[in-house]
This record gives sequence, C-alpha cells and structure tokens, in this order.
Amino acid sequence: MPPTILTISSPPIISTIFFLLLLYSPSSLAAGNCFPGDKKALLTIKYAFNNPEILANWTNETACCDWTGVQCLDSRIISLRITGSSSLSGFLPYAIGNLPFLKTLILSDLPGLEYSIPYSISHLTHLSTLILSNTSLSGKIPSTLSRLGSLQLLRLSRNRLSGEIPKSFGSFDGSSPPRLDLSNNDLSGEIPAELGNIDWGFIDLSNNRLEGDASVLFGAGKNVTIMNLSSNKFRFDLSKVRFPVGLGALFLNRNEIYGIIPAQINRLIHLIVLNLSDNQLCGAIPAGQVTREFPKQSYLGNKCLCGAPLDLCP
Ligand SMILES: *[C@@H]1O[C@H](CO)[C@@H](O)[C@H](O)[C@H]1NC(C)=O
Ligand SMILES: *[C@@H]1O[C@H](CO)[C@@H](O)[C@H](O)[C@H]1NC(C)=O
Ligand SMILES: *[C@@H]1O[C@H](CO)[C@@H](O)[C@H](O)[C@H]1NC(C)=O
Ligand SMILES: *[C@@H]1O[C@H](CO)[C@@H](O)[C@H](O)[C@H]1NC(C)=O
Ligand SMILES: *[C@@H]1O[C@H](CO)[C@@H](O)[C@H](O)[C@H]1NC(C)=O
Ligand SMILES: *[C@@H]1O[C@H](CO)[C@@H](O)[C@H](O)[C@H]1NC(C)=O
Repeated sequence: MPPTILTISSPPIISTIFFLLLLYSPSSLAAGNCFPGDKKALLTIKYAFNNPEILANWTNETACCDWTGVQCLDSRIISLRITGSSSLSGFLPYAIGNLPFLKTLILSDLPGLEYSIPYSISHLTHLSTLILSNTSLSGKIPSTLSRLGSLQLLRLSRNRLSGEIPKSFGSFDGSSPPRLDLSNNDLSGEIPAELGNIDWGFIDLSNNRLEGDASVLFGAGKNVTIMNLSSNKFRFDLSKVRFPVGLGALFLNRNEIYGIIPAQINRLIHLIVLNLSDNQLCGAIPAGQVTREFPKQSYLGNKCLCGAPLDLCP
C-alpha cells in the first residue's frame, strides 16, 4: 500500500530536510513550532474529530504553527479555524480549554460535529471571537461562557442547542458585551430578564422557541443597532416599549407581540430594516417619516393593524 511505503521510506528524507533547514534558516523553523502543551491539545482535538482529511497535515512530526487552520504568536496558538468539512465527525473535547492563548475559535459548516459544547471553553479568557456555527452541536449553552473577559463576538447560530439562555448572560466579564447571535437553534423557555441589564449592540435570537417578555431588551438609553427576535414565541405589549434611538434593523416578525406601535418609532432616523409582520398588533400605524419608508410586507399578518401602507382604519 502506498501510505506504508511512504511511512517506511520517508524518515531519512524528512530528517535530511530538517537538518538542512536547521543549517540554513534556524529562526523560520523555530517560528513553526508551537508550545508542546498546545500541540498536545490540538492532537487530542484531531483524534476527537476522527482524524478527518481536512486535518491531514496535523502530524506529530510537523511544526504545529504550520498546520491547517492554526495561527501562532510567539509559538502560542492564538487562532484555530476549521470550516466546511463533511468528513469531520465527532465531538469537541475538553482539551479545547488547554489552548489558553486562543483569541479566535471558529468551527463552522461541520455537520458531523456533535454532542455538547464543553465547559472548558470558558477557560479561554483571551477569546475575542467564538464562532460555533452550522454544526450538529447540541445540549445546553454553557452558562460560564459569560466569563470570557475579552469576548467581542459570540455566534452559536445554526446548531441544535436546546434549553434556556443562561441567566448569567445578563452580565459579561469585560468592558463591553459581545455581539450575540444564538439564531437558528432549538432554544426554549422564558428569555431571562437579566438580558435587559445589557446594552447588546447586536442581538439575534431569531428562529428558536423562546417565550416571554423580550421588551427588556429595549430602552431609549440603549445603543442596540441590530435586533432580530423573529420566529419565536415572544409575547409582550409593544405599546410600552421605548425604542433605542440608534436602531438600524428591527425584526420582530412571527411572534405573539400585542398592543399598538408606539409613535416614537418615527424618531428612529437610522432605521433601514423593519419587520413587524405576523404578530398580534392592533391599531393605527403611526404616520410619520420612518413608518412610511416601509412596505406592506413589514406590517402584514397582525390582528388589527391599519392605516398606510395597510388599509384605511375603520
Ligand atoms: C511526538 O514528538 C515528540 C517530540 O518530537 C516526541 O517526544 C513524542 O514521543 C512524539 N509522540 C508520538 C505519539 O509520536
Ligand atoms: C498544511 O496545509 C496548509 C494548507 O494547505 C499549508 O499552508 C501548510 O503549509 C501545511 N502544513 C504542513 C506542516 O504541511
Ligand atoms: C452548512 O454547512 C454545510 C456543510 O458544509 C453547507 O453545505 C451549508 O451550505 C451550510 N449552511 C449554511 C447556511 O451556511
Ligand atoms: C433575522 O432572522 C431571520 C430569521 O432567522 C433571518 O432570515 C434574517 O436574515 C435575520 N436578519 C438579520 C439582520 O440578522
Ligand atoms: C451608548 O454609546 C455612547 C457612545 O458610544 C456611550 O457614551 C453611552 O454610554 C452608551 N449608552 C449606554 C446605555 O451604554
Ligand atoms: C417580514 O416577515 C414576513 C414573515 O413573517 C415575510 O413574509 C415578509 O416578507 C417580511 N417583510 C419584509 C419587508 O421583508
């Protein structure tokens, strides 16, 4: 078999190449090696992922800073990015927590990645980008993710995550909260009131089975610019909501939201996308410079909304 022949015949060649590299460019070779503990963690991850083709060049004999998807700084691994493989199958092992210098972790478009997100991810306190998206990861969202003190983006969209949003997400360590995308999962239960303590900037909870009073996310003093709550079972009185003035995109469609549309909506001069369709809203759409920018499709499917661009009120 060719692979066997290769294994038997290649060590002398590899040693010769390494010897030459050592002679002629010792510093570039050193740049390719990573800290032994980091390498060990990566090899454990490769094994848990069932030695997929996409990680074929992750071998003990090669320098781990040169492996597919890996980036180092001063021989510590700071970025790991594995995307788009259908041969990868398995689970994310506890050893992921043994890459303490990791700033970026992206595992996406991996339909064979299963089981739950290990709690050890919360040991990675330097993480600024955590994307686990479009995989078959299931189970609950670890409540300890809120301890990641440097997190700027937390995207766990398009997985099979279930259970409730952790109450701990009402306070993130670090100077500002991350952009939060939990869309397209199987999350359920009441939205924790604690989420209202945070000024999210970007929050996408769309396409889950979440319930309760999501009005806690609003507030005139907040800076949220993109809010997507569509396709859930949120139920609250929109009449009482004060919209953040900087809102640029608001998706509330396909929920059970009732009441009237507050006239204050016409002060949202930055609003470029609005969808209030398929709720239980009622009353006249407040006429103004903002509401008139949007088509019927932004308001259809409510209980008794009326006025332009819908039919005249009775
Ligand atoms: C991996 O390489 C290291 C150092 O080069 C060596 O000590 C260790 O035995 C190797 N491990 C395996 C499983 O081959
Ligand atoms: C592994 O593959 C990547 C992408 O093809 C390549 O850039 C890198 O040099 C390879 N690393 C090794 C150790 O062969
Ligand atoms: C999810 O990943 C699969 C497999 O890589 C890919 O075919 C599909 O297009 C991805 N879906 C999205 C929405 O990106
Ligand atoms: C909001 O959610 C819906 C449903 O998941 C999606 O189609 C839409 O692209 C999302 N919009 C934004 C701005 O994220
Ligand atoms: C909104 O942003 C401004 C400027 O970035 C900041 O001064 C203000 O404190 C923020 N408001 C809230 C409620 O965080
Ligand atoms: C709003 O969402 C509904 C589904 O709830 C969709 O049919 C409609 O096209 C969307 N409107 C706009 C303006 O995108």
